Amino acid sequence: MCGIVGYVGNKKAVPVLIDGLCCLEYRGYDSAGIAVIENNQLCVMKEKGRVDNLKAISGIDDLNSTIGIAHTRWATHGKPSQENAHPQIDNSNQFAVVHNGIIENYHELRDFLTQKGYHFVSQTDTEVIPNLIHYYYQNGITDEDKFLRAVKSAVDDLKGSYAIEVISNLFPNRLIVVRKDSPLVIGKGKGENFVASDIPAILSHTKDFYLLDDNEYAVIEGDSVHFFDNSLSEHSKAVRIIEWDATVVEKNGYEDYMLKEIYEQPNSIRETIGARLKLGEKCDFDDIAITKEYLNNIRQIYIVACGTAMHAGLVGKNAIEKLCHIPTQVDIASEFRYREPIIDDKTLCIYISQSGETADTIAALKLAKSKGAKTLAISNVMGSSITREADYTLYTHAGPEIAVASTKAYTSQVVLLIMLAIHLAEVLKSAQTEELEDLKSAILNLPAQLEAVLDETEEVKNFAKRIYSEHDMYFLGRGIDYCVAMEGSLKLKEISYIHSEAYAAGELKHGPIALIENGVTVIGILTNSHLVEKSISNLQEVVSRGAKTLVITNQKLNNTNFNTIINIPETNSLVSPILSIVPLQLLSYYISKNKGLDVDKPINLAKSVTVE
Ligand code: F6R
Repeated sequence: MCGIVGYVGNKKAVPVLIDGLCCLEYRGYDSAGIAVIENNQLCVMKEKGRVDNLKAISGIDDLNSTIGIAHTRWATHGKPSQENAHPQIDNSNQFAVVHNGIIENYHELRDFLTQKGYHFVSQTDTEVIPNLIHYYYQNGITDEDKFLRAVKSAVDDLKGSYAIEVISNLFPNRLIVVRKDSPLVIGKGKGENFVASDIPAILSHTKDFYLLDDNEYAVIEGDSVHFFDNSLSEHSKAVRIIEWDATVVEKNGYEDYMLKEIYEQPNSIRETIGARLKLGEKCDFDDIAITKEYLNNIRQIYIVACGTAMHAGLVGKNAIEKLCHIPTQVDIASEFRYREPIIDDKTLCIYISQSGETADTIAALKLAKSKGAKTLAISNVMGSSITREADYTLYTHAGPEIAVASTKAYTSQVVLLIMLAIHLAEVLKSAQTEELEDLKSAILNLPAQLEAVLDETEEVKNFAKRIYSEHDMYFLGRGIDYCVAMEGSLKLKEISYIHSEAYAAGELKHGPIALIENGVTVIGILTNSHLVEKSISNLQEVVSRGAKTLVITNQKLNNTNFNTIINIPETNSLVSPILSIVPLQLLSYYISKNKGLDVDKPINLAKSVTVE
């Protein structure tokens, strides 16, 4: 949940570190800090609050060091404060550490070190790490490379998850990193090397990356990177070239990343479709090679994820059950992992995670693997933890998503799941060719239809202006529209801090209608011709109780008295969420802007949730 950056090379480190931190603020933003080696001494500067506060520390721009580590924090252990900010240093001021993750046994380690005479100045779990390194550095290590061995001995004592960077004034040209269950990449430059939690933070410096594996160490200097396994045997590692343009991580004239990412959806969907889909041809999923024999043997599918990714899974379930007739359940990862689900080798488990680092989703994947199920990961981040664990991986190719609220990743996940359902149906021969061709054509039309939706936003803006100061809202839909209602409601909560609930429209009478009173806002999604009349009746019930209504529809609605109707293009009902979610994304966005909130960095939220 934190962002880390590192640099060693021939330039001043501070500007590189600060730029990287600014790109990573979506991972945490309650405090930030840097450590560099200046005149053979460790120099640490840190501040509570945003990276801007760090930048404003007097003297930070005068640091000339060409090596450094940096961190932006999302507090877990210890409140946001200067002393709890990273880097943390050992008692002798010789080792500085930044850490993303959680050290579960830090109480024990603190007790151990206290007995050995160490003292602690922060409430963080991280502070044990530099002190342990110091302890091992002093005690009993006689090897040539004492620094790496001391780091390794300290890391051997840690239980939990971590991506760690360490520098020491005893080795002023060397940066050591290691990771387990927390992301870390190394960017290779010429005479300089970079480290970051996420590729975008250093993409303006290099396109050549090493993706560090769990329990792998790297010793980095300006002109070399050496890799070691968990027994400290050295090995070589291939560079991966990341083809993204550096501008993908800029705002490109948009006020916020969220708005930019909403408007990127026609293109991100094109990228997701890629070469997989062509009319008159079978969907191309050669990269996962799932055979007919295997699929015939499958009795059930689980789709497991958290938050928005789970909402995408709900649409995927509709597509898989309709086209493949395989019973499919959608589970929240944090529930799935503890509820003893029935899993065997006749179960296929699909895990969806934009970041690929969500702790609960990864744990749920490991559980299914241990019970013999095949696992398929859907992720947006190349080489992310989930993709390393899964038997098969499909990438959404939506491009980096920086705003905390997920938008383009959701629509790409939905498109990919529907294409996967088509593919499975083609392998199983479980659906009519005509039906599949109709769906393919609907998917191929989506980018142009999305452009049309994004061209007509006045109604949404006006509605947002009318309702932004409200405290409660309700989202209603039936079938696939209910899946969209859930996602719309989540977006609203996340970035506008308005309480909202999503209900299956037919459930209204079974309790929630008691909450509908004069002036309350109800948002209806109506895209399925078979269900439209029923949903209209439900909405009339709220209108007659005085609700203000916004309806998103691709149907012709006659004689209705809804306050605002937003028309979206007609399409196959399975893909309708990709169009109907867009006005809801924009509605949350404009409500948040009307309230003067920070859209990209909502309170209490971080982009990837790497802890339980
Ligand atoms: C909502 C949102 C979260 C994430 C959830 C899962 O806008 O961003 O609900 O969808 O934390 O994250 P990933 O997909 O990275 O596993």
